[in-house]
This record gives sequence, structure tokens and C-alpha cells, in this order.
Amino acid sequence: MRILLIGGGGREHALAWKLRQSVHCDTLYAAPGNAGIAQLAECVPIAPKSIPEIVDFARQNAVDLVVVGPESPLIAGLADALNEAGIPCFGPARAAAQLEGSKAFAKQLMAQVNAPTAPFAVFDDPDAAQAYLRKRFAERPCVIKADGEALGKGVFVCETLGDALDAIEFLLVERGLGEAGARIVIEDRLYGREMSLLCLTDGQTALPMPPVRDYKRALEGDRGPNTGGMGCYTPLPDATPVLIETALSQIVRPVIDEMARRGTPYKGVLYAGLMIQNAQPYTLEFNCRFGDPETQVLLPLLEGDLVELALAATEGRLQETPLRFGSRAAVCVVLASGGYPHEYRTGLPIGGLEQASQLPDVLIFHAGTRKQNGQIVTAGGRVLNVVGLGDTLEAARTNAYRAAEQIHFEGMHYRRDIAQIVL
Ligand code: AMP
Ligand code: GLY
Repeated sequence: MRILLIGGGGREHALAWKLRQSVHCDTLYAAPGNAGIAQLAECVPIAPKSIPEIVDFARQNAVDLVVVGPESPLIAGLADALNEAGIPCFGPARAAAQLEGSKAFAKQLMAQVNAPTAPFAVFDDPDAAQAYLRKRFAERPCVIKADGEALGKGVFVCETLGDALDAIEFLLVERGLGEAGARIVIEDRLYGREMSLLCLTDGQTALPMPPVRDYKRALEGDRGPNTGGMGCYTPLPDATPVLIETALSQIVRPVIDEMARRGTPYKGVLYAGLMIQNAQPYTLEFNCRFGDPETQVLLPLLEGDLVELALAATEGRLQETPLRFGSRAAVCVVLASGGYPHEYRTGLPIGGLEQASQLPDVLIFHAGTRKQNGQIVTAGGRVLNVVGLGDTLEAARTNAYRAAEQIHFEGMHYRRDIAQIVL
């Protein structure tokens, strides 16, 4: 088969690595890819959101399957455009991707099916939003969320009423995030441990992957600004089978059933971002795709053939398809550019990659890298994902950090506490 992968981050390098192992994968293209993906696929300079260009490329190159990494093209309708052209696409159609594309849509759907989530209200009028907030905040802290796609910048977990009022002003009055923040969700703040539960679904059957914990803050001890993710690990000692079954029966399956009932079945990966409060899972958000960096720890443990699984999901055959993961542990440490998530330099040479990748039980996935005059250099905020595998979390962690220590570029920083605080 001829497969086209959309995206160019660490998640897509992990996807390319796993797709390449499939007996069905004869040719792999990536748009746009990165320096790591280029070792596995033919990279083509097409941006993930250039839908007509992607469809043309897929047609001209007789692509049999398109696998989409990031959310933006899915929310914009890439799967619909490909399906109209008769090209199978792994990823939900536009109407189903609204689960990530609009937080108000997702919250209203959760409320309709009684999926546990924080109480909320939706506003586009600043005065009404402020009035609700003042009343609500008197009893409990609130979180302000831009409704639309905001690349991780649209959620304000506020400590004080003043901060929350500022967030409303920023979104609804100043239009600080443009149209994405023209409508907001105000919801009660939840407290507990977060968990990413990714499920493979064909619109009817949902098969869970092992839960993952990711680290969003830039600095050790969960301090500093939010980032795209500084690391993650699986398995989670606190993710009991009962907890997972509760999340599936109260959240994931009702949402998938309701999407099907509405005539907009959800196919692909449904990622539920959960908060575990008093042993009960609550939904914080849905994502319409594989997580980044969750994918970098999940795919190395996946035992099946990813192409077969993707086809089974797009063709509605998951009921008869097992989804199996090995019982080992995996820890991912993100190596970031100096200054990230704020301003950072790019084009800095990366050393030690060869030595690090030769260590046992280590995989290195590239995120923001490119090749320049034969040398791999930095090209983004999150530069590399170092994954350690092991029979225990401790062993996986040791392997990841041993490899991270081999790698260097000017200004490189990473968290040293990934998978350290385990129940
Ligand atoms: P979201 O994109 O909605 O998952 O929000 C991003 C992050 O904000 C989450 O991973 C949580 O860390 C935090 N967050 C979102 N909603 C809440 C909430 N209701 N209570 C506490 N933290 C939240
Ligand atoms: N790891 C967070 C995300 O993929 O959105």
C-alpha cells in the first residue's frame, strides 16, 4: 500500500516508525515530515492544512490510505475532502472533529449524555460572562476556555477572580485569540490527577489504549508556563481496570453512540483528557487525534499492525479486531530549545544522536528538527523525544534519561522528574 502521513512532529515520527513496520506499507510519504521522518518516508513540502494540495498529491500518487497526525486539518475537513475523492483517511470527518474544534460543542454533548464533566456555561457576551463568573467564583474557582482551536493557548486555569475576569476581557473584549475566543466556556475547576485515555474507534466499537500521564508544565515540580508537553509515561499505577471501565461506560461509549445517532459517526482516535477526582473520572476535553507526546510511548508498546488497525477503524471492523499492547513500561522525555515555550533560537546543531539511539531499549523520535548541510539542526521548540523502554517504570525512566544525557545542543533543557512521582 501507498500511505501518506500528515504532520511533522514527534507524534508523526512515532507514527511513521510504526507504519513502516507494517507488512502492508510499501511506500510511505510524509507531508511535511522532519529530519527523523525523512529516514523512514519520502517527505513532501505540503503544509498539513493545505487540503486541496493534499488531495491532489494523494490522487496523483495513488495513495491508498492517509493517516492524519494533527487536529487542524481534521477540524478543517481533510477527511471529508479525501473521502469525497475516494481516498480512505484515518481520522474523523469535520462534523465529528468538532469534539476538539469546539469546546462548547463537546461540553453540550457531554451534558446531553450525562458524561461526568465540570459544571459549565457558554457565553459570547462579556457582561453576561462576568455576571456568571462573579456569582460562581464566590463559591469555587473557575476555568475560562476559548471555544475554538487555540493551539493550547485557550485555557485559563485561574487562581483569583481578577485573573478570571482578565481572561474574559482578553478573549471576549480584546479578542486576543481572534475568532477562537469569540465564544467561551466557563467551568468549575476540578482537582486531582490527569490521565490521557486514547481509544481507537470505528464509530461503534471503542478500544482503549493504556492510559498515559503527560506533563504540560515547562519546569520540574509542575511549575512554569504550559507547553505542548514535556514528557509522559505509561502504564499508570493508579489507572485501575475499574476506573478505565468507568471512563469507557460513562464517557467514551455514550459520546461515540451519540455521535453515531446524530449521523456524524466518530472514526479514528478519540482522546479523552480526564481528571480523576475522588476515584471518579471527569472529562476535561476531547482531542480528535493521537496525543503528542502520548503516541511516542504508546506505539512502541503496540503489538498489532497499525495499518491493519487504521483500516479496520475506517472500515467499521473494530469489533472483530483485537487491540493489544505489551506489558512493559515506556517513558518519554522531551528535549526542548532554550527559552521554550517562549522565544527560542533554531538552526542549532544537534550532537550525540547516533550514540543515544544505539543504547538498548531507547527510541529517539524527532519533533522540531531539520537537515541543514548534512547536519541535523533544531527547528522548533520541542526538538526531540527520547523514549526509554523497560520492564518497570523505573527501568524505562533510567533508559530514557541515560539517552537524554548523550544528546546536546546549545540551550537544550528538559524536565528531570518525568515518571518520578509515581503512586
Ligand atoms: P483542555 O485543553 O481543556 O484539556 O485544558 C488544558 C489543561 O487545562 C488541562 O490539561 C488541565 O490541566 C487544565 N484544565 C482544563 N479544564 C480544567 C478544569 N475544569 N479544572 C482544572 N484544570 C483544568
Ligand atoms: N498531550 C496533549 C495533547 O496531545 O493534546
